Formats: sequence, C-alpha cells, structure tokens
Amino acid sequence: MFDQLDALKLEALGAIEGATDEGALRELEVHYLGRKGAITAVLKGMGSVPKEDRPKIGQHVNVLRNAVEGAISSRRVALETARIQALCADPTFDATLPSPPTHVGALHPVNSVTAHIEDVFRAMGFYLLDYPEVETEWHNFEALNVPADHPARDMQDTFWLKSGHLLRTQTSPGQIRAMKTFEAPFRAIVPGKVFRYERIDASHEHTFHQVEGIMIERDLSVANLIYSMKTLLTAIFEREVTIRLRPGYFPFVEPGFELDIQCQVCVGDGCSVCKRSGWVELLPCGMVHPKVLEHGGLDPDEWSGWAFGLGLSRLVMMKYRVEDIRHLMSGDLRFVSQFRQG
Ligand code: FA5
Repeated sequence: MFDQLDALKLEALGAIEGATDEGALRELEVHYLGRKGAITAVLKGMGSVPKEDRPKIGQHVNVLRNAVEGAISSRRVALETARIQALCADPTFDATLPSPPTHVGALHPVNSVTAHIEDVFRAMGFYLLDYPEVETEWHNFEALNVPADHPARDMQDTFWLKSGHLLRTQTSPGQIRAMKTFEAPFRAIVPGKVFRYERIDASHEHTFHQVEGIMIERDLSVANLIYSMKTLLTAIFEREVTIRLRPGYFPFVEPGFELDIQCQVCVGDGCSVCKRSGWVELLPCGMVHPKVLEHGGLDPDEWSGWAFGLGLSRLVMMKYRVEDIRHLMSGDLRFVSQFRQG
C-alpha cells in the first residue's frame, strides 16, 4: 500500500510539473483530488486495510494530498507568471489601456419612480400599504359599488382564477382593506401591479402599475382633493406640469374626475403615447362614495374621503419619455440599463 502511494505521488508530481497550461492543470486537479479522483479512491479503499494499519496509511495519504495540492498551486502561480511575462514581452501589448467596462446594474424606472412617490407621500404622513394581487370579487368590485350586473365591470376585463378569485384589476380594493384595517382618520397609498385582459398597444398593457391613494378625514372637499393632486404631481415631476380636470365616472367616487397631464413625450403636439391628442389620462380621482365608506365600516355622515388611482406605468413613460409601454415589462436589460444613475 505504501509503495502504491509513493508511486502515485511520483506520477502526480511529474504530471503537474509537465502541465503547460491552466486547462491541463485543472484536469490533473480533478484527476487526483476530485471526488472520483485517484487519491479519494485510495481513501475509499481503506475499508479493506487491517484496522491497525489504517492510521499510518491515513497519515500517508494526507501527506500525499498536501504534496499534490501544494504542487498544483505552485505550478498555477508559475504558469500565470509566465503568461504575464510573455504578455509584457509582447511589443503589441499595452498595459496602460483601460480594462473592459464592468457591467453595473440599474434600477427599473418603475421601481425608482415608485420609491420617489413613496418618499413624497411618507413625508406627508401617508401609510405605505401592500395588499394581495389575487383578490376576492367582493374587494375588487362589490365593495367598490360595482355589483355583478353593473356595466362598469365591462370597463375592466378581468383575469379570473379557477378558485373564483381574480387578479386585481385596480389598486382600489386597497381602499376597502385600508378602511377595515386602520382607524379613521388616516391617509395611505397602495402601490402595486394590476392586471387586465386587454388588447395591448403602445399605451395599454395587460400587466401595469398603479398607485392608489386614499385620505379619510372629517369634512374633506373637492378643493382639498384638487390641491392634494397638484402638490403630488409637482413633487413627482419636480416642476410645474400642465393638467386638466374632466368629469369622470367611477362607481366608487362621487363626484369623480379624470385628471389628464399634458403629454411630456411630445409636449402636446401628439404622438403614439397620447394617441395624437397631446394629453394623457393619468390620474382618475374623486370623493369616496358613501356606500364605499359603509363597506369599509365607516359612517358616511361622520367621515369623508378622497381617493385617486394613479396610472404609474404611464407616469413613468411621461417622466422618461418612453414611447411604448411594452418596454416596461419586456425584461430587456438594454432598456433598463439606460436608467443607470451616475
Ligand atoms: C381605475 O383603475 C380606478 N381604480 C382609478 C380610481 C381610483 C378612480 C380611485 C377613482 C378613485 P382606470 O381604469 O381609468 O381607473 O385606470 C387608472 C389609470 O391606470 C388610468 O388613468 C391609466 O393611467 C392607467 N391604465 C388603465 N388601463 C391601463 C393599461 N391597460 N395599461 C396601462 N395603464 C393603464
């Protein structure tokens, strides 16, 4: 057995010394030290060795393994040194050239805009809430004053699950969940993904992002809502933006409004994002409907509220002048890498 080990050592050290590149060295490393390597095989065969001889042989194997490991690492250093020396001797090699650029990741614009909005609202005392993407029909529709036969259901084509649940079509169920969770008065935002069974184009996705906002107080008015929305958009865009308010119908607010923002991609001239109108529908909002307050467990005679549902994906498009919404969920790193900071 000892002779066998000595022969193995001689063979291994000779082969390592003769290795002329890193690939060959790696192969020898696997051949001698790997899980199925020659030295490991010796250890596995120890069972057939008489018990009293085992410690001595074990010691011998350890010495052998250390010798092989040491020889491999010395050879590796020698090969690398020789490689660098050869490079330096090459007259065409320029050690002062910059190294190839390393890849640095970037935050997805939806994430960075969400983080910015969260900062703006947290500073104004809003809770930041996160609710399930798989919702009950009650939270997504009924509680929001949209019964099964209500025509408003057609406005949001729904992905239904076999369980009878659905993928939330809007962040508005967050209004109900927040009212049921927190004691009035409170203010909260609910950012998140929503899903609609829609035909997709440059400004419509089946999966997109919204941010719901809700404020519950005594004696809130439309003036308060408009002021809050203006403050919000100024903070988000970090400059004055041109907006317009139109009456809008949503069963869960009364009165309801559509807040449009002048298209930041074409600055009002008309492009694919704004469907040539110069305006982008961005922020539907309104005063929370008394029935919705009731469903949230609040007395509408005592409490009032406003709510908005910001189309976050479209806001990102406006902010970064992205001409097609499909880039956002494409997973294309070339798109995301354009948003690298610094
Ligand atoms: C709603 O989803 C309401 N829940 C908003 C609301 C909340 C109204 C609170 C009142 C009070 P709407 O379906 O219009 O509304 O969608 C809101 C915003 O999401 C739109 O203004 C638009 O910016 C964006 N949006 C709607 N559909 C899509 C889509 N397919 N792709 C990308 N963004 C969309």
